[in-house]
Amino acid sequence: MADNQGNPTAKNYHLGVKPAASGWNVKGAEHCDWGMKNRLAAMFDRRSGNAVMLAFDHGYIMGPTAGLERLDLVVPPLVPHVNVLMATPGAIRACLPPTLDKPLCLRVNYDASVLFDDISAGGGIACDIRQAVRMNASCMAAQTFIGAPGEKNSLEVLARTVNAGQEHGIPTLGVVAVGKDMERSERFFLLATRLLAENGANLVKSYYCEGFERVAAACPVPIVIAGGKKLPEAEALAMCRRAIDEGARGVDMGRNIFQAGAPVAMCRAVGKVVHENCTAEEAFEFYQELLHHPE
Ligand code: R5P
Repeated sequence: MADNQGNPTAKNYHLGVKPAASGWNVKGAEHCDWGMKNRLAAMFDRRSGNAVMLAFDHGYIMGPTAGLERLDLVVPPLVPHVNVLMATPGAIRACLPPTLDKPLCLRVNYDASVLFDDISAGGGIACDIRQAVRMNASCMAAQTFIGAPGEKNSLEVLARTVNAGQEHGIPTLGVVAVGKDMERSERFFLLATRLLAENGANLVKSYYCEGFERVAAACPVPIVIAGGKKLPEAEALAMCRRAIDEGARGVDMGRNIFQAGAPVAMCRAVGKVVHENCTAEEAFEFYQELLHHPE
């Protein structure tokens, strides 16, 4: 309890000293509250301002995806080399210990499985805000199907996730899905990424495309790019390089890491591009070195 007598008079206000720069580097979150900022800051590397997010949520609609047949064997070795883990609560609980010291981006929605003709057919909330808080989530991911029959339903799920997240200081990753019928054009990604941001997503997962620099510039929150279907490692690293150079603030990558010839080496090579400004060629050389001479 502060004393109310005998205290020295406050007098040293350091009037010539400006407040320290906030050093805040996550686009669009300058006006968020402390908790939201604290969670976002933990996801993006202080030096590069970027994030390598490992996406292993594919099973929520695809079942055992190639390279992810055994979550318990594939995921733990990758954890030290990423900033964020993006997965379903079930996968996290099953394959990672609660001593984990990495931010979680929880996939909180469910969707129709790939057995349906249209995976946008109808999704909903699989993990509500109470469960996300219990899981100590740093972020919640909600899928959207812009331009598909399930668009309205998915935007409803995004809105509910954003509203609950704002109330609890947990950011939302708006996920732009690209199904078999959805175009992958600049026009589509300009619309989809901006729409998710305007609907409250604090960051957006999308894909690299020609004209990506305009997509990144027009989106008021950070965009991280998915890798999409497996590419040759050199091509995947070149795509990362182009995306970062054109404004992406990182990757939310799955198949191009866990389906690589050497997933840990590929994960580290992606980090060289995302955080250390290496060229794709330098990163691929690093990958091959690790592939042939594992540490
Ligand atoms: C797929 O189900 C999810 O949206 C993935 O989180 C996203 O596509 C990133 O994974 P990948 O790099 O394999 O596309």
